Amino acid sequence: MKTSFILILSSFLLYTACKHEMINAVPVNPQDTVVVNNPNPSVKSDTVCFNTEVLPLFITYCASAGCHDPASRQEGVVTNTYASIMRGITAKNPNKSEYYKVIIEKEMPPAGSPQLSTAQTNVILKWINQGALNTNCVNSCDTTKFAYSDPVVTLLTNNCNGCHGTKPGSGNVYLGDFASAKAYISANQTAFLNAINHTSTVVSKRMPPGNKLQDCQIGQFTRWVEKGFPQ
Ligand code: HEC
Repeated sequence: MKTSFILILSSFLLYTACKHEMINAVPVNPQDTVVVNNPNPSVKSDTVCFNTEVLPLFITYCASAGCHDPASRQEGVVTNTYASIMRGITAKNPNKSEYYKVIIEKEMPPAGSPQLSTAQTNVILKWINQGALNTNCVNSCDTTKFAYSDPVVTLLTNNCNGCHGTKPGSGNVYLGDFASAKAYISANQTAFLNAINHTSTVVSKRMPPGNKLQDCQIGQFTRWVEKGFPQ
C-alpha cells in the first residue's frame, strides 16, 4: 500500500522558497506521492510538480493518439502515468534518462509534430535533478488571474497544444493562437467547458485525456471564457 507524504510548505519554508525544500521530503518508496501544498500560490514554489508541470507535457507532446498513449504504445513506450514515464527516467541523472535525451536531441517528438520549448525541457531537467519524485501539487495556481497572456496561454501550451497546437489539431480543434482559441471556444462554449470539467458524456472528449486539470486551473479557463476572453 502506498503511503502519502505530506509536505506542508509552512510559512517558515516560504522564507526559503528559492532553496531546495524537496530535500526534506524523501519518500521511502520512490513511487510514493509527495504532496506539495503551497499556501501562497502567487509565489511559485521551487519544487517542480510532477502532476501539474511534468505529466501534462508527456501527455500532450508524447502520449497523443497513435503515439505513446496506452492504445498505441509505439515501440512499447507509454508516457501517461508516473510509473510509465519512470521507465525512461533515472533520478538525478539526465544523461541516463532516455525520455529526456530523445527530447533534447530532437529525436522526439518526430519532426512535424509540435516540439517542446526550451523552457519546457528545462522543467523536465529540473524535475530529474530534484530526484524525479512523484510530486503532487495542490492549490498551485493563482485564481485571481484569468487573462490569455497569463495564465491561459501557458495552460494551453503545457496541457493541450501537443495535440491542439498545430493545424488542423486533434479532433479538428486548433487552439494554437489567441484568435483561433477564442473563435473555437466562443462557438463551442458548452463542449469546451464539458471537455475541461471531464463531464462530456463521450469519455474520449474529456480533456486532457486521462488527466483532469486541477480545479483552480479549470476555474482560470472558465473565468477567461465568462469574462469574454481578455487578452
Ligand atoms: C493527448 C492529446 C490531447 C490533449 C493533451 C488534449 N486534447 Fe483535446 N482532443 C484530443 C482528441 C483526440 C480530440 C477528439 C476527441 C473525440 O472526438 O472523441 C479532442 C477534442 C477536444 C475538444 C472537442 C470536444 C468535443 O466535445 O467535441 C476540445 C474542446 C478539446 N479537445 C480541448 C482540449 C483542451 C482545452 C486541452 C487542454 C486542457 C486538450 N484538449 C488536451 C486530443 C487531446
